Amino acid sequence: MSVLRKIIHVVALLFVAYLMNSFALRSGIMKHPQMNKTIEQRVDSLLALMTLEEKIGQMTLFTSDWEMTGPTLRAEYKEDIRKGRVGAIFNAHTAAYTRELQRIAVEETRLKIPLIFGYDVIHGYKTIFPIPLGEAASWDLQAIEQAARIAAVEASAAGLHWTFAPMVDIARDPRWGRISEGAGEDSYLGSAIAAARVRGFQGNGFDNADAILACAKHYAAYGAAQAGRDYHTVDMSEQVLREVYLPPFKAARDAGAWTFMTAFNEWNGIPATANTRLIKDILKWEWGFPGFVVTDYTSINEMVLHGYAADDKHAAELSVNAGVDMDMQGAVYYHHLADLVKEGKVKVSRIDDAVRRILHLKFLLGLFDDPYRFCDEAREKRLIMAPEHQAAARDMARKSIVLLRNEKQTLPLSRQIKTLAVIGPLADSKQDMLGNWSASGDAKDCVTLLEGVRAKLPGQGRVLYEKGCDIENKSDRSGIAKALAVAKKADAIVVVVGEAGWMSGEAASRADIGLPGLQEELVKALVATQKPVVVVLMNGRPLAIPWVAENAPAILETWFAGTQGGHAIADVLFGDYNPSGKLPVTFPRSAGQIPLFYNAKNTGRPADPNNKYTSKYLDVPNSPQWPFGFGLSYTTFSYSDLQVDKKEFGYNDALTIRVKVTNTGAREGEETAQLYVRDLVGSVTRPVRELKGFQKVQLKPGESKVITFRLSADDLRFYNADLLFRAEPGEFDIWVGGDSNAALGTRVTLKH
Ligand code: GLC
Repeated sequence: MSVLRKIIHVVALLFVAYLMNSFALRSGIMKHPQMNKTIEQRVDSLLALMTLEEKIGQMTLFTSDWEMTGPTLRAEYKEDIRKGRVGAIFNAHTAAYTRELQRIAVEETRLKIPLIFGYDVIHGYKTIFPIPLGEAASWDLQAIEQAARIAAVEASAAGLHWTFAPMVDIARDPRWGRISEGAGEDSYLGSAIAAARVRGFQGNGFDNADAILACAKHYAAYGAAQAGRDYHTVDMSEQVLREVYLPPFKAARDAGAWTFMTAFNEWNGIPATANTRLIKDILKWEWGFPGFVVTDYTSINEMVLHGYAADDKHAAELSVNAGVDMDMQGAVYYHHLADLVKEGKVKVSRIDDAVRRILHLKFLLGLFDDPYRFCDEAREKRLIMAPEHQAAARDMARKSIVLLRNEKQTLPLSRQIKTLAVIGPLADSKQDMLGNWSASGDAKDCVTLLEGVRAKLPGQGRVLYEKGCDIENKSDRSGIAKALAVAKKADAIVVVVGEAGWMSGEAASRADIGLPGLQEELVKALVATQKPVVVVLMNGRPLAIPWVAENAPAILETWFAGTQGGHAIADVLFGDYNPSGKLPVTFPRSAGQIPLFYNAKNTGRPADPNNKYTSKYLDVPNSPQWPFGFGLSYTTFSYSDLQVDKKEFGYNDALTIRVKVTNTGAREGEETAQLYVRDLVGSVTRPVRELKGFQKVQLKPGESKVITFRLSADDLRFYNADLLFRAEPGEFDIWVGGDSNAALGTRVTLKH
């Protein structure tokens, strides 16, 4: 046989081997190569002992009756544990209560398989950090990872093994209340943050029981719900899905996330919870995901309402055959899987694959060696709300705050101020400081803004307080007169307005994203006093507040800043911390502009104010109120001397980009320099800008630093019309600056 024929023969054999291996993995016949061999043997020997009912029990997750995070509750979950019909419980925590339930599983069932306990530890367990959108505004990956690490230390001390986080849904529509739970609108930033949170939650593994399983959710494209209405339909090309919505999930998988949660929504007519393309093809086969996939709350059952399943049993068949391994709260695997197997509609090998993935993680958590290793009440007492956790929460909260406006250097306030008026319905609210999804956070532990300010200005009568109005009430103006009376006695005014904590998060879409109630009227009355007024926003989404944005002398975006929020905001108000946050999401002028995001396409008629026939509105500019990446400081920064080491680069080399950043103000400060790129011509149209890098730099007054970015052809890849992920040769504009409107730029060429 000639050499060429031998080569072809070998290549053909290798290709067949690849296909067989891929099929075996995809179909679940073969255990995943990433599994731990020793654990795998222990899983196999346990699996061999299990009845079909016991296997299905491992694929069933029920909530306890401690909390309701969805529409249904099964009161008999303890009996279900006793019968070996449930393998995981959520919304049950504390060392004592998880020990009580674990005892039933490991002492009263036939095979004594331990439970895993899950909970929505989204931005802290008991020490609550800023809402995830607020943390994202820090652009500080170390701080974000540390926040997740602390959440995991507290959650694992409270008996938990698994968090339903990070939520990594890209969101471009602020009407959608769950925009508060993610990292905003950008895939590059969202991917970096997704990986940081997974690293934080899962730490260095589970050997010392201070880490918890992460769960990347909601897979996938939940943030693209039509009209920003929660649970609504998602319809987009696979090209957009892969380019915008999947990267943070891929980043979470690559960071080692052990579980994924399917989304409530459909994608292109097929509910995510039975979407073979998403689960089997992309997640388990293409990405080689070795963990397990859990549904969202009763999302299998909801496929009947979607009009995709005839009944619960049909829904169970569709989901399990699409690759879903565990049913959250639906009890459809519980009721129907055994029959489906007996009827030959579901293969035992699929059941075994799901159970292997689940048992593997129970072994990895060490629960078969010691099912109570996370139930240590002494450790729980020592670690929960530890002082160092409070310090970290305050630090993260400070870093999450974005200075949106500061006319006439209204901020920072002086500690020598004689009298300060603190006004507004959110100024002294402990509950709202927690935001949504606050797990076991306790409002009584929260520091309000008023308390934080009073700590800065000790002394009788220096801080005057008046609520001014409610958050929602649109008729009772009596408080505004009282607020004005207080304001008249003060040298400056801090007015705290925004949303209640429950106005964002799940099932909390808003069609009008302005200030609810009479809050804007309150702000207008206070601004009319001509005194220095600082507007402090507490909110879970971008707000459309054009009058406030143009007329309030100073505006701080503080999101919901968490347990230490009041101290953190006061640190910024009085200049003990120079604000460094940058918006992870665009703030529109009007809800009518939505969806409005920086990395949009240019269109064939980009807006031209001098040409009627171009893409714009008659009544509102196209520009946002505040753009993605925007944030001011108490100092100022300049960018200069942008240099590239070559004007042309190839597929096998990289571009080095250097820029000088200078602190041109009078105070030390931290800037987040951002690198944006535009691919001028592509085989599919490309966005006008895309974030491709960012670096934080701390500068003293007058100090300059040269920062360097590296850009390779790989960084310029995108999905073309054939869904091939590749960079294309041609010209690229690059810019570096302090937000997505960065002006300092140059042009380079990627050559063939
Ligand atoms: C909820 C949410 C999901 C959460 C789950 C468990 O419906 O959609 O994010 O993790 O149920 O509480």
